[in-house]
Amino acid sequence: METLISLFRRKVSEAISLALNLPIEESQADMAPSSQEEFGHYQCNSALRLAKALQQNPRAIAQKIIDKFDQSFCSKIEIAGPGFINFTLSPHFLSQQLQEQFHDRLCGASLPKKRQKVVVEFSSPNVAKELHVGHIRSTIIGDCLARLFEFLQQDVLRLNHIGDWGTQFGMLITYMKEAAPKVLKGEEETTLEALMEWYRAAKKRFDEDADFKKRSQMEVVRLQSGDKDALYAWKSICDISRTAFQEIYDLLDVKIIERGESFYNPILKEIVAEFERHGLVTISDGAKCVYLEGFKNREGDLLPMMIQKSDGGYNYDTTDLAAIRHRIFVEKADRIIYITDSGQSLHFQMLFAAAQKIGWLDPNKIEVDHVGFGLVLGADGKKLKTRSGVTEKLIDLLTEAVDRARGMVKGRLPDAPVPEIEHLARVLGIGAVKYSDLSVHRTKDYVFSYDKMLRFEGNTAVFLLYAYVRINGIKRKTHADMDKVVQLHRIAVQHPSEISLGIHLRRFGEILELVSRDLLPNRLTDYLYELAEKFNAFFRDCRVEGSPEEGSRLLLCELTSKVLRQGLYILGLQTVDRM
Ligand code: ARG
Repeated sequence: METLISLFRRKVSEAISLALNLPIEESQADMAPSSQEEFGHYQCNSALRLAKALQQNPRAIAQKIIDKFDQSFCSKIEIAGPGFINFTLSPHFLSQQLQEQFHDRLCGASLPKKRQKVVVEFSSPNVAKELHVGHIRSTIIGDCLARLFEFLQQDVLRLNHIGDWGTQFGMLITYMKEAAPKVLKGEEETTLEALMEWYRAAKKRFDEDADFKKRSQMEVVRLQSGDKDALYAWKSICDISRTAFQEIYDLLDVKIIERGESFYNPILKEIVAEFERHGLVTISDGAKCVYLEGFKNREGDLLPMMIQKSDGGYNYDTTDLAAIRHRIFVEKADRIIYITDSGQSLHFQMLFAAAQKIGWLDPNKIEVDHVGFGLVLGADGKKLKTRSGVTEKLIDLLTEAVDRARGMVKGRLPDAPVPEIEHLARVLGIGAVKYSDLSVHRTKDYVFSYDKMLRFEGNTAVFLLYAYVRINGIKRKTHADMDKVVQLHRIAVQHPSEISLGIHLRRFGEILELVSRDLLPNRLTDYLYELAEKFNAFFRDCRVEGSPEEGSRLLLCELTSKVLRQGLYILGLQTVDRM
C-alpha cells in the first residue's frame, strides 16, 4: 500500500507544479508528520523553501498550492506560521485506508521499487576467543534488520563472518597438542570455556616462551599450506565453538549462515595482487600497505591499511577486502550492511574507501553501511562482565533472563501447565533482552538491567506483550465471531482517540521505510510503544462491547493486534496468548 506520506508528497508536488508552473519531483515535496496532532496529521514545508527561491511571500505561495491541491481526502487544510501547510485527513478517508490496511498482506507497508539483494553481516564472534556481549548486540540488531528486509520482500543473505582463521590457531593448536591432544583428534569432547581457557594460556606461553612461539608459527604455516593434521585440529576447534554459538542462536531464535574468515583464504593472494596491479600498494617496514586519502592519525600522518604483513601473513583488512569483493561480484549485492560495535567504524570506513578506490564499489550503485553500536554496561557503569570476570558464558546471561521471566510467570499464572510456563518464560525472557537492546538508540551505551527490562510499565517488551494479550482479551470477551465481524462490518473512525490510533496504525509502513533507511531499530520500538499507548487511550475513551460501533471497533482492535504482532516479529519477538 502506498504510505500516507508518499500520497501527500505525490499530491503536493502535483499542486506545486500546477500552481507555480514548476515541475518538481515527488521526493522534493517537503512533507513530515505533524509534531502535534491538534494542528493536523501531516505538514508541508515546501512553501517556505520555494518562497526563497522565487522571492515571493511564503504564505501567498502556500495559498496557491492549496488552491491546486486535491482536497478530496482532507477535512481541513490550513496555513500556519510563516507558511507551513497543515493537513488533516478526513475521517472517511482514514477509515477507508484502515479498512484496506486491515486486509493488506503487508499490514500497510509499501515495498521498495526494486527488489534488492541485501547482505546483512552480523554476530561474527571469534572462534576460541572471548565472546562478548557485543556479539549478542550484533546478533540482535542484525537479526532485526534482516527480518525487516525479509518482510519488505528483499533478497536477504544473512552472513556470520566468524573469526575462524589467523595466527591465533597456531598457538592454540600447539598448546592443545600438549594439554588436550585427545580433543584435537576428536576423541574427547570439551566446552567453549575450556577452549577459551586454553586460548588464554596459549597466548601467555606465546608471549613468554620463545620456543613455543617458534613452534606456533610453524603450526600456522602448516595450517595455511593445508597440512592434513593441522587442518583437522583447526576443524575440531571450530566445531567446539560452533556448537556453543549455535546454542545461543537457537535460544535467540536467529538464523544465520556461517561464512567465516577462512572462507576467503583461497583468494587473499589474489586480492593483494590486484591492489599491486593497480599501483595502490606501498611497502612500509616490509609490510604491504594501502594508503587512502583522508584517513590520518593524530599526528596528521596517513593511516595504513595493512594487507600483507612482512612475514607474508594476511590479516583482518585483507579478509574484509576479499569479503566485500565477493559480496559485490559473486553475491551481486545491492546493499551490504555490517553490524559491529562502533569501535570498528574506522576500519569499515577505510574498507569502503579502499573498495571504492580499486573500483569494486560504485557508491551510486551499491550502498554499504556500517551499523555501529555502543557498549552494554553493568550496574557499576563499566563494560558488562560476569561475576567472575574471567570466563563469561554469554548463554548464562540469556538463561538468567529466562529464569527471571519464569519466576514472574509462575507468580501470575500459578495454575498454568509446565510446558506453557516454559514457553512463556522463554518468550518473555528472551524478548525482554532483545527489546531492551533494540529500544535504545543503537549508538548509545546502555545499562543492562533484568529488573528494568522485565517491568510492566514503560517502554519494555513485557508492556507491549501485555498490551497484545489485552487486545485479544477484548475480542474474546465480546464473544464475537471475528470472521462474521470482518464480513459484516467496516472500519469507521470518528472519536478523536479512534482517529489518533488510526493515523498511527496507518503510519506503520512509513516507520519501516525509515528504519530501512537509517537502520535504527529504536524507531520501531518507539512506534510500537506509542501504538500501545494510543490503543490504551482509545480503549479508555471508546466503549467497544455493546456499543453501536462495536463492529468497527473490534476491527480496529484486530488491526492493532496485527500491527503489533508484525512489528514485534520484525524485532525478533514472539507474542503470547496470555501472561
Ligand atoms: N570477528 C570480529 C570481532 O569479533 C567481527 C567481525 C566483523 N565483520 C567484519 N567483516 N570485519 O571483532
